[in-house]
Amino acid sequence: MNEKLTIALTKGRILKETLPLLASVGIVPLDDIGSSRKLVFETNRNDLQLVILRGTDVPTYVRYGAADMGVVGKDILMEHGSEGLYEPLDLGIARCRLMTAGPLGWQHIGARIRVATKFVNITREYFSRQGVHADLIKLYGAMELAPMMNLADLIVDIVDTGNTLRANGMEPLEEIAAISSRLVVNKAAMRSRYTAISQIIEELTAVVKEGEDAPA
Ligand code: PRP
Repeated sequence: MNEKLTIALTKGRILKETLPLLASVGIVPLDDIGSSRKLVFETNRNDLQLVILRGTDVPTYVRYGAADMGVVGKDILMEHGSEGLYEPLDLGIARCRLMTAGPLGWQHIGARIRVATKFVNITREYFSRQGVHADLIKLYGAMELAPMMNLADLIVDIVDTGNTLRANGMEPLEEIAAISSRLVVNKAAMRSRYTAISQIIEELTAVVKEGEDAPA
């Protein structure tokens, strides 16, 4: 097979933590990804290229085999499903928490609550497990604004440092899931390009384990 092995990476915060991991297994983009508007990057390995996507699109590219492998947050996999994908490795990067959050001192009064989030599937399931009737309001960003503008009572969002919540007069309430980035692999590619893919998985697994074993 002479087609290049393609790894789909999630841009933004996850990308910054992915590049050092890839470098430690000998995969280095030829151009500076941070300062380029390109979407496809050749690497020092002429059998391997990187594509840079929004997180929500990474599983789609990998599921359809347009990319052989990908790096994506567990939040995206939980929200959009991981059918058609192998998830062989928790990369342990971009760790954060998916949480409910509300205005400081918020108390649940009444039977229903309005929850703004982009994670509508996770949120629906979470509140239904709690036996709480939640009216979901789908947003695409800046969830913290919704309670302030009385669009919603609570939000469900990613919390890392908690700074965004604090800056907007909110506090984290309950943790729904611990999140980190995962390696995903197209199922057919796993068979047809087994040697190349399993080598990358093995090398990344060793690097991740080394990081976990190292003293903090
Ligand atoms: C996430 C999330 C919060 C913020 C939390 O947004 O939606 O706004 O990070 O981080 P903190 O707890 O450290 O303040 P991100 O910047 O990833 O952008 P997004 O809205 O595009 O997901």
